[in-house]
Amino acid sequence: MTVTSVKTVLHVVGARPNFMKIAPVMRALEPVSGLRQLLVNTGQHYDDSMAGGFFRELELPRPDEDLGVGSGSHAVQTAKVMVAFEEICLRHHPDLVVVVGDVNSTMAASLVAAKMVIALAHVEAGLRSFDRTMPEEINRVVTDRLSDLLLTPSRDANENLRREGASDDRIHLVGNVMIDTLLRHLSLADFGRIRSHVPVVDGSYAVLTLHRPSNVDQPETLRGILEAVRVVASQMPVVFPVHPRTRNRLREFELDRELAGVLLTDPMGYIDFLSLTSHARLILTDSGGLQEESTALGIPCLTLRENTERPVTVTDGTNRVVGTRTADIVNGFTQALTSHAPKRTPELWDGHAADRIGRVITDFLWR
Ligand code: UD1
Repeated sequence: MTVTSVKTVLHVVGARPNFMKIAPVMRALEPVSGLRQLLVNTGQHYDDSMAGGFFRELELPRPDEDLGVGSGSHAVQTAKVMVAFEEICLRHHPDLVVVVGDVNSTMAASLVAAKMVIALAHVEAGLRSFDRTMPEEINRVVTDRLSDLLLTPSRDANENLRREGASDDRIHLVGNVMIDTLLRHLSLADFGRIRSHVPVVDGSYAVLTLHRPSNVDQPETLRGILEAVRVVASQMPVVFPVHPRTRNRLREFELDRELAGVLLTDPMGYIDFLSLTSHARLILTDSGGLQEESTALGIPCLTLRENTERPVTVTDGTNRVVGTRTADIVNGFTQALTSHAPKRTPELWDGHAADRIGRVITDFLWR
């Protein structure tokens, strides 16, 4: 391709699940001549275990701009990102802003870009849980509504977008960038790394993650989940890397003692955690990304939520959405142990989603 002018792309990240999505996209765009890529870190997550460590492991460049917004209510966090990101856009005059996923930083940066009439690309567009009590659903709907390029991970996402009136020329089915990062690092996911954290045997333990406000902010819901976890832990070791929000709630509700017999750890880095999940017998989670990763790894997953925005992990993968009631989780656990998980991989979850994104972005910028 003959490139006629230099273009600037601002990539925005802020929270843990963003880092593994942006890394392959930046790498794919690196060889494009005439393209200046800048990385903006909003600082929504700030602990080394939630942010800094991921930059190093995923070989992300040092952010060109650090907004340092930190924690706060949804309004405060969103507003702080908007105020700071507007200045960044004024300073750098980007031709395109790229946002990923569905966290508050994603939506905040999207609003700024749209109001400044800067083109916007959303990686992981079109996912819907159809549950507006979930903060991420609001972030997804708003971001998609404003995006010029809707880069989707699966066909159901295309359908959701079409149903909401998005025109076909904005929608690009590219596959799942999270899986690009997983496949790139899988050979490093050595079980030996896990043995240094927790005393478990390869293939015979469960991994638990919990962080959604709807699960951990209500003591009754959290207690019900932990009761089920105790049943699981009576049959196999359960390893539980604890998110900071959950750690605070467990203390506040004095539920830490309900976890006797569960192997608690601090949040892990990307490769340690991939080592943990890829050698597990079973995963229990309320995370979005982990539903996808368990499907790619062929490990059974119980999703402790009432719905999922990633239905392809159920239809084509290893995921079961079991809800948060004790009996339902225990039932799901029994079924997951007795039935065989299918080994299909969803379409285009092949490690090359970012290459496809790179082509869409390049065509868009120099169309
Ligand atoms: C955010 C995202 C969620 C994503 C999750 C992954 C939104 C609305 N939510 O939720 O979609 O799945 O990240 O982790 O954007 N905290 C720390 N250190 C940190 C970060 C957070 O101690 O580095 C604590 C603080 O007490 C903070 C709380 O965790 O108040 C929640 O952090 P926040 O960024 O508001 O949301 P998450 O629950 O992490």
